[in-house]
Amino acid sequence: ELYNFRLIKPDTKVYGLVGKPVGHSKSPLLYNAAFKSVGLDAIYMPFLVDDVEKFFNTYSSPDFASGCSCTLPHKEVALKCMDEVDPIAKKIGAINNIVRRPDGKLVAFNTDYVGAITAIEDGLRVLDGAVSVDGSPLAGKMFVVLGAGGAGKSLAYGAAQKGARVVVANRTLDRAKELADKVGGKALTLNELENFHPEERMVLANTTSVGMKPNIDQTPVPKHVLVHYCLVFDAVYTPKDTRLLRDAKQTGAAIVYGTEMMIRQAFEQYTNFTSLPAPEDMFRQLMENHA
Ligand code: ATR
Repeated sequence: ELYNFRLIKPDTKVYGLVGKPVGHSKSPLLYNAAFKSVGLDAIYMPFLVDDVEKFFNTYSSPDFASGCSCTLPHKEVALKCMDEVDPIAKKIGAINNIVRRPDGKLVAFNTDYVGAITAIEDGLRVLDGAVSVDGSPLAGKMFVVLGAGGAGKSLAYGAAQKGARVVVANRTLDRAKELADKVGGKALTLNELENFHPEERMVLANTTSVGMKPNIDQTPVPKHVLVHYCLVFDAVYTPKDTRLLRDAKQTGAAIVYGTEMMIRQAFEQYTNFTSLPAPEDMFRQLMENHA
């Protein structure tokens, strides 16, 4: 009952998820329920795509697809097929959200980093006790990103854009340096992080895959290092309660779960698709019910 194809008419707006695989995705569940709740004549479907360039060339007509989400392994190549790309998504080199404008042009965004950054900002606001402050609570903060891969880049650019002072710590120093140079930050190895605490109440964001392996309870940094941080975010979301976050809780830091990044990137995509606020409670409920 997720898809009722008899309801599709010539004017129905078609959205979809472009990727390989796509079958596991919760996106159709979320967006179709949201469309229905506000009576939008729209449908969101999975598109299993091998060659993403061919896909966008074939379906170049503005009549096809009002927008789509883009997932692995296409987040980088799809960027080249767009008419316009959000400046930060361009710097990151990856997109996950594509919207067709009324003039037919395809415009792309990266809502992954927005999801993580807004979750961290809200975490800091709670810590600061500020209900609403002008500007970002990340402005001027020291923001340590662990990892320099795709997710590391997203967090580093996103935080830098909010005025944070970025430090990239990575197992391989060269990759840390390359990214740190681009965001005007400092580079360290993961080991050097042990003796790095120029100030207290820093923010830590893990984007390495350490902690993801089932049954191996690993953490990218030893627990005693965490006392210098006021907030710790982990992009790893399976398992949700990683050793890093459990340690952080014990040292008294605020924590932000990777699942929060996942759900918030969906809020952002929905708003880009429809110009409507996302039904946040409904999305959270659906995610919980279909975990
Ligand atoms: P993603 O796109 O998810 O960020 P990626 O580009 O493969 O994935 O990057 C993985 C990141 O996790 C890298 O920063 C990697 O460090 P290296 O640059 O040194 O390879 C980091 N990483 C992966 N496994 C790790 C481990 N066992 N210990 C420390 N860092 C690790």
